[in-house]
Amino acid sequence: MKSRFLSLVLFVVFATATVFAQEAKEAPKKHGLVGTATCGMCHKSDKQGKQLDIWKGSKHAKAYETLLSDVSNEIVKKKGFTVPAIKVPECLKCHVIGNTEEAALLGPKFKVEDGVQCETCHGAGADYKDAKIMRNRDEAIKNGLIIHTEQEKFCVTCHNSESPTFKEFKYEEMWAKIKHDKPKEK
Ligand code: HEC
Ligand code: HEC
Ligand code: HEC
Ligand code: HEC
Repeated sequence: MKSRFLSLVLFVVFATATVFAQEAKEAPKKHGLVGTATCGMCHKSDKQGKQLDIWKGSKHAKAYETLLSDVSNEIVKKKGFTVPAIKVPECLKCHVIGNTEEAALLGPKFKVEDGVQCETCHGAGADYKDAKIMRNRDEAIKNGLIIHTEQEKFCVTCHNSESPTFKEFKYEEMWAKIKHDKPKEK
């Protein structure tokens, strides 16, 4: 009797462990968000290409703030929502990141108020942000860095008619407004 019970217990433990092991393998690793201030520590010099300043001067940096405006609140009111735009998931979806993440994935410098930020486009950076990994492109990609080869396709995942203020998206013109390449070495 005792030994049958023991084997049942062992079976349950083993089966559970197997399921967990499979889940761990199948679910892609969730990388933490470190925030624009962290990326900006290294990506702000003339030599690197001043990405931080360029972003700060772009509308992407204001995307959260926009949802606090009267214009935004009018839009959601017309759609029938009774809460302000900043509380509407349908708006947050393109304007903000980190609002639906568990707290453990948000680093101390991460700010939802930064709107469409570095990690919105380049992927959550906790595991690739270290200089040693960053300098090695392949390693960085393995650790979550996203490089866009089809840039226009990527932009129109947000710049499309689902946006209530959308008119049209002219890629060349729009990229010129936010481009932040590293200057070529002389
Ligand atoms: C400790 C400094 C440091 C931090 C922090 C850092 N980076 Fe980098 N990053 C680098 C260096 C160095 C390179 C390599 C650039 C070069 O070729 O000189 C790089 C390269 C890149 C590239 C270009 C990759 C390629 O090969 O085209 C992107 C995109 C990038 N970083 C984004 C980010 C983002 C987003 C963050 C924040 C999550 C971040 N970096 C944080 C130092 C840093
Ligand atoms: C995650 C969603 C998202 C992605 C991806 C995205 N954008 Fe945006 N973009 C926005 C939002 C939201 C705004 C509006 C910000 C505001 O004014 O509050 C915006 C605004 C802009 C503006 C300012 C609008 C203007 O008329 O001056 C430019 C330029 C721009 N984006 C370029 C791009 C380009 C180029 C890409 C692709 C490389 C891109 N965006 C990808 C969400 C996105
Ligand atoms: C599919 C992505 C997407 C969704 C969903 C979205 N937006 Fe936007 N929003 C954008 C983009 C991209 C821009 C900039 C270009 C444009 O107007 O389409 C923008 C621009 C704006 C602007 C104009 C900012 C300016 O400076 O002129 C306002 C206001 C705005 N959004 C409010 C909202 C509200 C309110 C909601 C929710 C009902 C919402 N957005 C949902 C992507 C989105
Ligand atoms: C709206 C999306 C978007 C935002 C926001 C954004 N980037 Fe980029 N970034 C791109 C795209 C697209 C490219 C070109 C293709 C690529 O490298 O992915 C790029 C290229 C880069 C490169 C490579 C430049 C080169 O010439 O090698 C670096 C470094 C970089 N971004 C850093 C940053 C940092 C740091 C921030 C925040 C301060 C940021 N980016 C914000 C979309 C964005």
